[in-house]
Order: sequence, then structure tokens, then C-alpha cells
Amino acid sequence: MGLDVFKERKTIRKFKDTKIEREKVLSLIEAAIQAPSAHNFQPWEFILIDEKETKEILSSKMAETWIKNLKKDGKPNSEIEARVKLSKERINNAPFIIIPCFDTSKVEKYGDSRDNAEFIMGIQSVALASENILLKATELGYGVLWLCAPLFCPDEVRSVLEIPENIFPQEILIVGVPDEDPEKPKRRNIDKLIHFNRW
Ligand SMILES: Cc1cc2nc3c(=O)[nH]c(=O)nc-3n(C[C@H](O)[C@H](O)[C@H](O)COP(=O)(O)O)c2cc1C
Repeated sequence: MGLDVFKERKTIRKFKDTKIEREKVLSLIEAAIQAPSAHNFQPWEFILIDEKETKEILSSKMAETWIKNLKKDGKPNSEIEARVKLSKERINNAPFIIIPCFDTSKVEKYGDSRDNAEFIMGIQSVALASENILLKATELGYGVLWLCAPLFCPDEVRSVLEIPENIFPQEILIVGVPDEDPEKPKRRNIDKLIHFNRW
């Protein structure tokens, strides 16, 4: 895996209607679990969804919370309908879904402010595993869309997927064969973001 994979990786939001074999997805998970993790606790779990009915129930349940939040924000009904429709379609039509989760029972507990640092380390570890999925997918010619939505409705995701209370679903990764070739968003100039020796 060369630098090209890092440069080639970009978010894909449109996918071909091509089935993604479970075996291929397992190779993405193999890549994920090569990530480093704090204390080598490997606090990750992965829910893999390729069942139409599950996708539909999940998208509908998540939409309920989103509609409530958008109404609270005072968004007009037409905007709410359009945004929720797009979001549901994305999930319902997803060729394959991976939900990386953080198992909070696997991290160190001190009963003081260090618990917050341990919690963050758990999230960081799962994020690193997730990035490995994105990079491996790029190498295999797949595209991925990262949806942050589960962070806003963890209980709904838990209830649909029967996830225990101590498990935090971090994001939805939609994996599929790209049906678009968008321009990758420009990166900030490296000179503007590095700080040698001092801020
Ligand atoms: C933590 C995180 C959350 C994201 N959530 C969403 C999302 O909910 N919807 C979406 O369309 N893209 C989402 N993205 C994708 C970003 O919009 C995308 O990575 C960014 O615009 C840079 O584009 P690139 O991935 O093509 O380099 C998310 C990415 C990350 C890392």
C-alpha cells in the first residue's frame, strides 16, 4: 500500500448496484484490526449488514430522531423531508454496511478524570481501525461513505441491532463499487498547519 492509496481515498456517495461479497468485507475487517489501540485493548466490534430488511428498519428508526432534531432546529418541512429521504435512501440502497463500535467495557477505569482520557483513547482506537477500512477499500477499488449519524441516535441504533448498552456504535460505513468520480476536496496547505517546536 503506497502513498497513492492515501491520496486516492476520497468519500464516495454514489454506488453501483453491485453486491459486495462477505468475504471481501472480511478482508476490510482484517485490515481494520491491524490498527494500533491504547494498551492493545482492541476495543472494537463490527456489525456487518447486508440484509435489506435490517437496513430499512435501521434507516427508519434513525430518521425518527433526525426529524425530531431538525424540527427542533426550526427547519422547514420541505427541507426536512428532502434530507431525511436522501439519508434513508443512502442506507436502504447501501451495497454493504459496516458499523464499527467501541466496547467501553474494554477500557481502563480509574474512577477519576483519567476515565475521560481512556474513553477518548477507545474512540481514537476505533477511528484508526475505521481508517484502515477506508484505505483497504480504496486499495480493492471500493468506495466508502462515512456517516456520523449513529453518534446522534445511539439508542435507536442499539435497539434495532440488539447492541448491548456498553457498546457505542461510532459510525455507518457504506461500502460499495463507486458510481461517481468526484473531485477530492482540497487539503489545507501543509505550511499553514504545522508548528515546529512551538505553536
Ligand atoms: C468523523 C467523520 C464524519 C463524517 N460524517 C459524514 C456524514 O455524516 N455525511 C457525509 O456525507 N459525509 C461524512 N463524512 C465524510 C466527510 O464529509 C469527508 O471525509 C470530507 O468532506 C473530506 O472529503 P474526502 O473524504 O473525500 O477527502 C464524515 C467524515 C468523517 C471523518
